[in-house]
Amino acid sequence: MIMPASSGPQTVSPLRSVVIPVAGRGTRLLPATKAVRKELLPIGRKPLILYAVEEAATSGIDHIIFVCARSDSSLQRFFERDIQLEHFLDVHGVQGEAEKLRAMFSGLRFSFVNQSAPLGLADAIRCARPEIKDEAFGVILPDALIISQNPCIAQLAECYRRHRRPVIATRLVQMFETRRYGILVVDSERPEKDMRTVRVRSMVEKPSPQCAPSLYGVFGRYVLAPEVFDAIDNTQPDPSGELQLTDALNSYCNSNPVYGYLFEGRHIDTGNWHGFVEATIECLLADVELAPVLSRYMSPSSAPCNN
Ligand code: UTP
Repeated sequence: MIMPASSGPQTVSPLRSVVIPVAGRGTRLLPATKAVRKELLPIGRKPLILYAVEEAATSGIDHIIFVCARSDSSLQRFFERDIQLEHFLDVHGVQGEAEKLRAMFSGLRFSFVNQSAPLGLADAIRCARPEIKDEAFGVILPDALIISQNPCIAQLAECYRRHRRPVIATRLVQMFETRRYGILVVDSERPEKDMRTVRVRSMVEKPSPQCAPSLYGVFGRYVLAPEVFDAIDNTQPDPSGELQLTDALNSYCNSNPVYGYLFEGRHIDTGNWHGFVEATIECLLADVELAPVLSRYMSPSSAPCNN
């Protein structure tokens, strides 16, 4: 069950809203994503999207804005109440299940905006503009699963509270990984004693190890200021016709301070099959009931066999 924002963290979040873009194509997880949207695929017992919503809710953020593909309402249906199902569970006395469903999203407000076509992450974020008043907001990319004690977006929000400037989640990558991620150009001097905060000068999308300006990778969590929308408006599409957030943030960085925050936690990219399997195993091993089932398969001497 999701912890409602009201009973969440002790401190009040400086952010009220988080944008979760879910309008991408999910081509790396085909053929599964031809049947089910990536964000609704289960990792352990829960659909992927629930991990992102829980991260926001336990960070004290109560307004969740989904940017959805116009052609698909399956995600929206998941967040709506299913009165018939609740009635069935009530009547058949399935212990506590109806109550759990009813309480699942209490304290949270959901908005759904459409992206007409998958024209890039910056375009997706821009679609949420009417829902964001003139204030900072979080962005969570749900396929970037971050397992941590303190939710990653709460860590960024805390950094935002100190600096009142956009914050990008970062972690150090291995040399061979630079081709997979955005990489930050950072100042050598740290603005804070805790050494987790860096000043960002610009960023480069998926550089080769030889060309990488640093090993500070970018991992699907941001706190952005409303002025970033103007930067997106002034950004040109890339050669494939998509509006890249990296390009918009680069132009924003030219005239505005931006910070990177070395988050505490483990990041898994569930948008490809390797990461998807890794995240599934990690979540099953953390599930007291299901972990023994998995463990049986992992021990070669006792792997179940039918013959
Ligand atoms: P990805 O880069 O993982 O792209 O998007 P994708 O389209 O989902 O997947 P692949 O690369 O085809 O396998 C990161 C997040 O941004 C959203 C996606 O839904 C995902 O949550 N996104 C991306 C949008 O909402 N709109 C876009 O135009 C692009």
